[in-house]
Amino acid sequence: MKCMICFFSPTRSTYNVCKNMVYILKSYGYEVDMLDVTKRELRERKNTNHIFYDLYIIAFPVYSQRIPDIFSEYLHRISINSHNAIIVSTYGSVTEGNALSQAAAILNKKNLQIYGAIALPSEHSYRSAFMSGYIYDNHTEELENFFTNALFNIESKKEVKIRSNLAVGMFFSQKFLAGITLKVPNVIKEKCVRCNKCIQACPTNAIDINLNISANQCIRCAACVKVCEVEARECVFKNHISRIIVAKGIQRKGKPVIFT
Ligand SMILES: Cc1cc2nc3c(=O)[nH]c(=O)nc-3n(C[C@H](O)[C@H](O)[C@H](O)COP(=O)(O)O)c2cc1C
Ligand code: SF4
Ligand code: SF4
Repeated sequence: MKCMICFFSPTRSTYNVCKNMVYILKSYGYEVDMLDVTKRELRERKNTNHIFYDLYIIAFPVYSQRIPDIFSEYLHRISINSHNAIIVSTYGSVTEGNALSQAAAILNKKNLQIYGAIALPSEHSYRSAFMSGYIYDNHTEELENFFTNALFNIESKKEVKIRSNLAVGMFFSQKFLAGITLKVPNVIKEKCVRCNKCIQACPTNAIDINLNISANQCIRCAACVKVCEVEARECVFKNHISRIIVAKGIQRKGKPVIFT
């Protein structure tokens, strides 16, 4: 049996969960391929892989209570050679909003059946702006239980219905919400050692060779902040309300949201 995990993960929490899923799926006899489409070049690459997958998993972080726009655009564009899907998401313990149901709608349109969906609380992308907060593990136990049920659903052809929530994120564009939440993470020149790691980590190629960021291309994912080892980039909130909302997620221990 073959499984593909296709994921988007700028600050790598989702990626860490994906690595954990590989071990679990292998224990069920799956051969697992991973496709990281975080970087723009990888999302734009032509798909020359025609393997049929018994299971297709998509994994992504919740952005403004939804699936990240650039990942949903990618999913709309590609053809998926599978009938069975599982949805995995990570969120910063504020709310998963409508991310799971939105992802399910995209996959259903492509004639995939959904046999399980999970949103796992993870480190918030903007955690570095705070002194405190939970550091989550990779949710081994929750994932093991989730996959036991979801794989059983595939065997018995029992599709899951994912509840749709009323979410603020439905009424404003993600670009607008991200733009009013966080400043573009400018470089602190005195600290920068010119390693260029931030340029390489950016999923939208928003950082130029002089380390300046195009505000228009920046999706405020904070990958450049997290990857910088000398703290030459930082998360700075644009307003007090956004800071309070993110702090709420960082200070409480969120729970997995599961559909099986
Ligand atoms: C632009 C942006 C919007 C976010 N919106 C939400 C949200 O609506 N609810 C939430 O709980 N977490 C939110 N988060 C936090 C991420 O979902 C969470 O940190 C996720 O684990 C990051 O995944 P990654 O490390 O794979 O990039 C947001 C993060 C970013 C960067
Ligand atoms: S990652 Fe940090 S130190 Fe490296 S170039 Fe970017 S800002 Fe400078
Ligand atoms: S420049 Fe913007 S889009 Fe690029 S890594 Fe930094 S926060 Fe993310």
